[in-house]
Amino acid sequence: MSKKNIETTLVGAGRKKRYTQGSVNSVIQRASSLVFDTVADKKRATAGRAQGELFYGRRGTLTHFSLQDAMCELEGGAGCALYPCGAAAVSNAILAFVEAGDEVLMAGSVYEPTQDFCNKILSKLNVSTRYFDHRIGAQIADLVQPNTKVVFLESPASITMEVQDVPAIVQAVRSKAPEAIIMLDNTWAAGVLFRPLDHGVDISIQAGTKYLVGHSDAMIGTAVSNARCWDRLRENSYLMGQMVDADTAYVTSRGLRTLALRLRQHEESALAVAHWLAQRPEVARVNHPALAQSPGHEAWRRDFSGSSGLFSFVLGQKLNDKKLAHFLDGFHHFSMAYSWGGFESLILANQPEELAAIRPVNGVDFSGTLVRLHIGLEHIDDLIADLAAGFARIAQA
Ligand SMILES: Cc1ncc(COP(=O)(O)O)c(C=O)c1O
Repeated sequence: MSKKNIETTLVGAGRKKRYTQGSVNSVIQRASSLVFDTVADKKRATAGRAQGELFYGRRGTLTHFSLQDAMCELEGGAGCALYPCGAAAVSNAILAFVEAGDEVLMAGSVYEPTQDFCNKILSKLNVSTRYFDHRIGAQIADLVQPNTKVVFLESPASITMEVQDVPAIVQAVRSKAPEAIIMLDNTWAAGVLFRPLDHGVDISIQAGTKYLVGHSDAMIGTAVSNARCWDRLRENSYLMGQMVDADTAYVTSRGLRTLALRLRQHEESALAVAHWLAQRPEVARVNHPALAQSPGHEAWRRDFSGSSGLFSFVLGQKLNDKKLAHFLDGFHHFSMAYSWGGFESLILANQPEELAAIRPVNGVDFSGTLVRLHIGLEHIDDLIADLAAGFARIAQA
C-alpha cells in the first residue's frame, strides 16, 4: 500500500478494534483497578504490564493505549508517555536521563518554565544547565562535554520564533557524544508539521494542551520516544506517578481527528495576518518562520511541511504602560491568555526587558514591544480589522 497522507493517518490512528470495541472512537475506560478473573490472568497482566496489557490504572487503560498508539504513528516513535500537562512531559523526560554531576545543554530560547525547571529543580540535584544561542548549528560540538547527558531544543523558539538547524545539531551531538539524549519541544508543529524523530531526535515532546486538544479545555503532555530511550522514559515516568485521566486522553484522541484541518486554517489565516502586519508602518519586524526575513526561515523551509497559528511581531517603539493597556484592553476578537493552540485568537505582549530576562543567551534585538499572536479560526477580515483598530488606539493614547 502507498504511504498514507497525514489527514488519513490522523483519522485512523489508534482506532484498533481492541480500543473502539465496535464504536468509531476509543472507549472511555475510567479505572484505577483492573480486575483479574484468574491467577493466570493476573500473571499474564503482570508480565505484559509495560506492553499494553491492562494491569493498573496508572499504567493506562484502553483509552490511553489508543492515544499512545496514535501518537507513535503520528511522530514515528516506539512508545509514547502521557503526562498531566506539557510542563510535566518536559520535566519528567529530562529527569529520566540525568543524574548528579550531569549537564543539560539547552537552547536559550526555550519556553521559560522549561528553563525554570532546570535552574530551580535540576540545580538542586547537582545537574547543571548551559544555554546556547539558537543559531548554533554544528558548532554545538564545541559545547558537548563528557557529562552532557541531555540536549534540549525547542523549534521554533517560544515567543521569538527562531527555527533551529535540528539536523546539523543532531549530527554534531552524535559525533561527539553518541549516548547523549536529544529532546525537542515540538508543540508548535503539533507532530504534523515537523517530525523530530525522522531527523535523529530521541524524544519529541508536546504540550498536547495546545493543538492536539485544540479547544482550550484540557491539559495533557506527550513524549514520543524512539526505541533506544523508550524503556527508561516509560519506567521513570511511571515511577514519578505520571499519567493523565481517561477523559483527557479521550478528548486528545478526538482532537487528532480534526488536527490537519484545523492546522491548515490556522496556517492560512496566520500567514494572511503576518503578511498584513509586515506592511504596517507600526511594525518593525514579524517573527513568523514562513516569512523570509524570520530567523531560521531556511531551516523551516527545508525541514517543516507548513506553519501553525502562533507567531509574534515587534513594534517600532516600546509602548509605555498607558499605551500598552490602551492597545491590549480594547480587542474584540483577541483574548489575553497564555495557552494557545485552541480555536480562538489570542494576544499577549512582552516588553524588551522582560524578553531579555528570559533569554540567557540572546542574539535578538529587543528594542520594541513584542506582541505574540495566536491566530484562531475566526474570519481573518475580523481579526485584521481588530488589529488595525488596536494600532489606531496606540496612536490616540
Ligand atoms: C512550547 C511550550 N511547551 C510547553 C508548554 C507547557 O504546557 P502546559 O501548559 O500543558 O504545561 C507550553 C505552554 O504554554 C508551551 O508553550
